[in-house]
Amino acid sequence: MLSGRKILLIIGGGIAAYKSLDLIRRLRDRGASVVPVLTKGGAEFVTPLSVAALAGEKLYRDLFDLGDEAEMGHIQLSRAADLIVVAPATADLMAKMANGQANDLATTLLLATDKRVLIAPAMNVRMWEHAATVRNAEKLKQDGILSVGPDEGDMACGEYGPGRMAEPLAIVAAVEDALLNGPLKGKHVLVTSGPTHEPIDPVRYIANRSSGAQGAAIANALVALGAKVTFVTGPAHAEMPAGCVIVPVETADEMLAAVTKSLPVDAAVFAAAVADWKVISASDKKIKKTKGAKLPVLEFSENPDILQTISSMGKDRPKLVVGFAAETDDVQKNATDKRQRKGCDWILANDVSPATGIMGGSENDVTLISDQGAENWPRMSKIAVGQRLADKISDELDD
Ligand code: C5P
Repeated sequence: MLSGRKILLIIGGGIAAYKSLDLIRRLRDRGASVVPVLTKGGAEFVTPLSVAALAGEKLYRDLFDLGDEAEMGHIQLSRAADLIVVAPATADLMAKMANGQANDLATTLLLATDKRVLIAPAMNVRMWEHAATVRNAEKLKQDGILSVGPDEGDMACGEYGPGRMAEPLAIVAAVEDALLNGPLKGKHVLVTSGPTHEPIDPVRYIANRSSGAQGAAIANALVALGAKVTFVTGPAHAEMPAGCVIVPVETADEMLAAVTKSLPVDAAVFAAAVADWKVISASDKKIKKTKGAKLPVLEFSENPDILQTISSMGKDRPKLVVGFAAETDDVQKNATDKRQRKGCDWILANDVSPATGIMGGSENDVTLISDQGAENWPRMSKIAVGQRLADKISDELDD
C-alpha cells in the first residue's frame, strides 16, 4: 500500500502518455496522492483536464506561470513528493536528464529535486537501441535514477521490439519497491511529537501550543525512506503521519513509558513539546467552583526528561538521539548547552518567539548542533525540514 505517499508524476510527450492516466488511477487506488506535471509534448497526447480530473490535484504545466511560482515554487514542488515518476520518459527527456538540462518545468523539477526519481522509458525501438539513448540510460543509472521497462512488443509505430512503456501495474510495483526499499529499510526509528496534557482534574489540563506538525513531517519523511517508524504522540492537531505505528499518549509519564516500551530502535527523534511540570495529586473528581471558598492552588512536580533519560541509557541507547531546542533568545548558545546537558547527539534548535510564526506555523528555521558544530539551515517548510533531517539520519545510520 502507498497510503499517505506523494508521487510527483511527470508525463512526457509520447503515445504511451495515455497509459499514464491509468497509472494515476492505480496509484491513487493504493492510497498515494499524485501531483501531475504535464509537459508540452505530453499535452499533445492527453488532455490537461483528464489528467487533473483523474489526479484530483492541481496540474502543473509551465515554469513561468507566476501564479504557480507564488503559490509553490518549482524547488518546493520538486521536493514535496516522496518520489518523482517520469512516465512516459521519452528519449528527449532522458537525454535532457542525463545532461542536466533544465529548460521547462519538468526538467527543472528533475534537476532541482533531492528525491529519488523513477523513469518508465517509452519510445520507438530504434530510438531505444540508439547508441545515444544507451549512453543516456547508462548515465542515468549511474546517477541513481531508477528505471522500469521498457517492455518488448508491438509498438504504436508498427515496429516490434523493446520500447513499449511498462504497464501501469508494473510501474506501481516499481514505485512500491522504491518507497519500501529505501535507504532506511530495516531501520527502526522512534519519533515523539505533539504536546503533552497534564491533568488538573478529569476535565481540566495544562497544555502548550505545539501542533505536532514538525514531528509528523519527520515521521512521514522517515517512512518515505523505508524506515519502520514508531510515532509516540501527545494530543496534537496536525494530521497523523501515514505508514507508522502510532502510539497515542496524554501525559509525559505515559510518553516515557511508551518510548521505553518501543526500544530498541536505531535512532530516536524527540520532537514532542513535553510539559516540564505536572500537577501534584491531580484530583480524580472535578474541582468545584464554590462561592466564597478559597481558590484552588496548583502545586507542581517535575516531569521526567524523556530525551535525557534515553540519551543516558546504557546498552539500549539508540545509535543516534536527536532532540529539539525551542528557544526565544540566544538560540545557538542555549541549544549547544542543552545538547551537552541532555547528552543527545544532535539538537535541532529553533527560535519560537511569537514574531517568527514558527510555533503552530508551517515553516521552520533551524540550526543543527552536533559535535561538528552548528549548521544553519535556510528557513523552509516543516515538511522540507523533516526530509532534510531524514536524509541526514539515513546517512548517519549508513556509516
Ligand atoms: O528542556 P527542553 O524542554 O527545552 O528540551 C527540549 C527537548 O527535550 C526536545 O527534544 C523535547 O522533546 C525533549 N524533552 C523530553 N522530555 C521532557 C522535556 C523535553 O523529551 N520532559
